[in-house]
Amino acid sequence: MNLTQNIEIAPSVLAADFARLGDQIAEADEGGADYIHLDVMDGHFVPNLTFGVPIIAAVRGSTEAVFDVHMMVDSPEDYIDELAAAGADIITVHVEAVDQLHQVIKQIKDSGTLAGLALSPATPVTTLQDILPELDLVLIMSVNPGFGGQSFIPNTIGKIEQVRRMLDDNGLTAKLEVDGGIGPDNAEDVVTAGARVLVAGSAVYSSVDGVASAIKAIRDAACRGL
Ligand code: DX5
Ligand code: ZN
Repeated sequence: MNLTQNIEIAPSVLAADFARLGDQIAEADEGGADYIHLDVMDGHFVPNLTFGVPIIAAVRGSTEAVFDVHMMVDSPEDYIDELAAAGADIITVHVEAVDQLHQVIKQIKDSGTLAGLALSPATPVTTLQDILPELDLVLIMSVNPGFGGQSFIPNTIGKIEQVRRMLDDNGLTAKLEVDGGIGPDNAEDVVTAGARVLVAGSAVYSSVDGVASAIKAIRDAACRGL
């Protein structure tokens, strides 16, 4: 059995060179990325602005990789159908940004994409309880959303363990993703705790060894946690 198949690495283009975004995405894809993680920020839900639907549509042609779109915006429901049409494969919204959660998750699924739900560091995992069976992916933030290059918040490990238990105890197969401050030094720990999809921005795109080596280093470390 190839254990690496249980781990998925999702480079975040937030740390990429935006002037060469298409090429940087292709580089990650060719370098072994499983997903391309796209951080959409609106300057309201988080204090930063990135990019939206037109940019995602423009880079869709650069790769066939899975587009994992992380919506750090208020009222994400306003963009779901456009994002799906632009080529998103997974759309993750924040529990803190949505009023009618059940409705929005249904809207994502109806758009033909997979539905993810993200929790910021201060949000307890109990908020997942009633919606968990509907989800394709749970994203546990290990930094406060808004910026790349921050340090991993250690109590995230306990949250990942709790969500892993909630999933396994209920026979649920949603993917468990962790995002923020992830690299070769902590990849093993988050996998041991139960994460299987690892987002990494600076550890991939700011690595002096290059994108492919960085992805391999994270994957090798992560596999030690299986
Ligand atoms: C932060 C974003 C992350 C970010 C991770 O709000 O959601 O995806 O790009 O960057 P690193 O890996 O540098 O913490
Ligand atoms: Zn993200």
